[in-house]
Amino acid sequence: MQVLSTIRDMRAACKAARQGGRSLGLVPTMGALHPGHISLVRAARAQCDVVAASIFVNPTQFGPNEDFAKYPRTFEQDCALLEAEGVALVFAPTPDEMYPADATAFIEVAEIGDRLDGASRPGHFRGVATVVAKLFHIVAPDKAFFGQKDAAQVAVLRRMVRDLNFDLELVVCPIVREPDGLALSSRNRYLSAQERDLALVLSRALHAIYATYHAGQTSVAPLLDAAHSVMAIHPEVRIDYLAIVDPHTLLPLDKAAPGALAAVAAHVGATRLIDNTLL
Ligand code: PAJ
Repeated sequence: MQVLSTIRDMRAACKAARQGGRSLGLVPTMGALHPGHISLVRAARAQCDVVAASIFVNPTQFGPNEDFAKYPRTFEQDCALLEAEGVALVFAPTPDEMYPADATAFIEVAEIGDRLDGASRPGHFRGVATVVAKLFHIVAPDKAFFGQKDAAQVAVLRRMVRDLNFDLELVVCPIVREPDGLALSSRNRYLSAQERDLALVLSRALHAIYATYHAGQTSVAPLLDAAHSVMAIHPEVRIDYLAIVDPHTLLPLDKAAPGALAAVAAHVGATRLIDNTLL
């Protein structure tokens, strides 16, 4: 496995990897890898000849009062995991390598980028779209792999790929959960044992929506009521958003239909968690 830290070296390595018509898959990450990330790597291995992963805690997607500085960084461990999974190329640039000090070009996915997490975290999806576009230009993958865990991110990136004609396929992989339902997240390691228990209300609230919907209720108001009743058991978990939306536009729905996205974000102590389910 090659670990590359400059754009120049990564471009050259990706070009060499694609020689002879080999297909190249990209798995973008911010590191602190867990089995959710590894599921993307395995999908990439199954669908592409060569797999590249990136590890970059992207400063432009963090707000001024967010956890950029304390975001978990476990680089050596991450590399060992990626090597064991058969990843050929790891791109791990510094912020200075990725962003010239006087950079002024950014990618804005209007409207969609300001909904759900984009509403709570102004500028977040501008940072995500910009760094992912840069990774796409550097790596030029045939396929890029993302998790359904970040459903709003998927909507933003799909729109970016479509509107800006990126020549690649975006592959979305299912959410990997703990046996008790908690969605895996790098941020779960911030949780105390007690917060870890409280965090279960997110997946339980989504399950309430799912069960109520599949029992025949399609009106969104009672579906959300079912979820709010679950969340109310632990009022110390502060809801950021709880919504049933169109998965492509992220606009709220009045009636749920197959494929509708039920999504939640909430603060458990100082940690902001997200989860979702497709109906
Ligand atoms: P990060 O949070 O490290 O996540 C990297 C990828 O792993 C994302 O596509 C995310 O949706 C996926 N992922 C995380 N938890 C998952 C889970 N439990 N099951 C399945 N997939 C999961 O998302 C980012 O990084 C960044 O925004 C990035 C796209 C790398 C741009 O900086």
